[in-house]
Amino acid sequence: MPVPPTPPLLTVMGVSGSGKTTVGAALAQRLRVPFADADDLHPPENVAKMAAGVPLDDTDRLPWLHTIGDWLAAHAGSGGVISCSALKRSYRDVLREAAPAQFFVHLDGSPEVVARRVAGRPGHFMPASLVDSQFATLEPLQPDENGVALDLDHPVDDIVEDYLARTDSPQGD
Ligand SMILES: Nc1ncnc2c1ncn2[C@@H]1O[C@H](COP(=O)(O)OP(=O)(O)OP(=O)(O)O)[C@@H](O)[C@H]1O
Ligand SMILES: [Mg+2]
Repeated sequence: MPVPPTPPLLTVMGVSGSGKTTVGAALAQRLRVPFADADDLHPPENVAKMAAGVPLDDTDRLPWLHTIGDWLAAHAGSGGVISCSALKRSYRDVLREAAPAQFFVHLDGSPEVVARRVAGRPGHFMPASLVDSQFATLEPLQPDENGVALDLDHPVDDIVEDYLARTDSPQGD
């Protein structure tokens, strides 16, 4: 059974629409640690690019990943949950370098389930091609990465219970 650090230091990862923000906040509440959303930590240059509809490249992402790593490092002693897509192994390596103890929670599911979910998201428009490109980019957790993959196609509370059941978590008591 995978062992998250104590206090818990989690990065909730997955494709857009997998439920990172929703499940990350619920996990943080259950574990009684602060929550942050990496989407709120972009530098102004990235925010401007995204607002202009220009996709970020890996060079743009690097300072952002360092900021997320700083957040994790700052919370290593007291615990925290951050939501960050972290689709590529190389992105996760940057985060791990900053906070080696952290544990990844991958919200895992099929493109069909995610496409159905984002189609129903109020106030958001996400073309099916974006779902496909997210899955094309996704590099799932490798055996040497400390983390767990949870099926995203369940009610939020059940996913939180799955996390507690599938990890060696003292907070499960
Ligand atoms: N377990 C769930 N069951 C049903 N609906 C869910 C679940 N998790 C999230 N949702 C809904 O799915 C949509 C996407 O969730 P959320 O915004 O948390 O995903 P995200 O991974 O943070 O997406 P993004 O990468 O775009 O920030 C929202 O409308 C949310 O309310
Ligand atoms: Mg989100």
